[in-house]
Amino acid sequence: MTPRIVVTGKIPSAGLELLRSAGDVWAWDSDGPVPVGVLDAQLATADAAVTLLTDRVDDAFLDAAPRLRIVANVAVGHNNIDADACRARGVTVTNTPDVLTASTADIAMALILMVTRRLGEGERLVRSGRPWKWDMFMMLGSSIEGRRLGIVGMGGIGQALASRARAFGMEIVYHNRSRVAAAIEDRLPARLVPLDELLATSHVVSLNCPYTPETHHLIDASALDRMSDTAFLVNTARGAVVDEAALVDALRAGRIAGAGLDVFEHEPQVHPGLLGLDNAVLIPHLGSATVETRDAMAELAARNVIEVLAGREPLTPV
Ligand code: GLV
Repeated sequence: MTPRIVVTGKIPSAGLELLRSAGDVWAWDSDGPVPVGVLDAQLATADAAVTLLTDRVDDAFLDAAPRLRIVANVAVGHNNIDADACRARGVTVTNTPDVLTASTADIAMALILMVTRRLGEGERLVRSGRPWKWDMFMMLGSSIEGRRLGIVGMGGIGQALASRARAFGMEIVYHNRSRVAAAIEDRLPARLVPLDELLATSHVVSLNCPYTPETHHLIDASALDRMSDTAFLVNTARGAVVDEAALVDALRAGRIAGAGLDVFEHEPQVHPGLLGLDNAVLIPHLGSATVETRDAMAELAARNVIEVLAGREPLTPV
């Protein structure tokens, strides 16, 4: 029987075409989330589901999909999927690592530059039409050359950010569950330090770790207190790694110098306290948002589906 593949939202055509070569594809292609009733009716006969990071794949989703063999998430993060529930039902889960590493590291580096050089503020000033002229003391930022970057989460994206930041003359320390290979540490170079030391000594702290129960609110009020009042926080991981209310307090009080955020705790809601703060750079979850990267993500998800439906091992299992 031809397998049925359900795609829960819009994905690039490169991925859809591959999926169509492997089965009957139903794809939700309107803006906004697919209504639950519509999705459940499709899941009832689905062999594969291609999901987005805005979907919740939990027991209710899986109950609606008794034939499901694979959930292919078009994202590297998979905190939206209950992997244990999938495992218990024999459903394979895959994600899209590696293909978005460079794009996401680029966005982290961009946020470092934006927040330390006050580029969001500068852009707002020019667009506002308010008069300005070159001034020796206008919008002075903070240099990053020779300063320390502390990377929390030294996977592929953390390492790619380290290479970029090295090109800007930054010194790299990192905190990770385990030490990365000595050859990688030597090549970057980068040094493993305890989280407290990273927070207390880094000019910029960048979050590049997965979101798990262990990293929920890893950066809370006390972590922010450990940072210097001249230091910056950049988050391209998941919003809830940071206690956003505590971050607003710290930014307001000048306990840290600024924050560059691509992700938010209650996305797409943004803490209202952030919106008025000039020392916060806010962008709408653009980490992997290039044409090339989104094509590659959709293709990798499709290839995972093809492998599993053919009875082979997935390429990038979670
Ligand atoms: C983006 O946030 C992703 O996890 O792919």
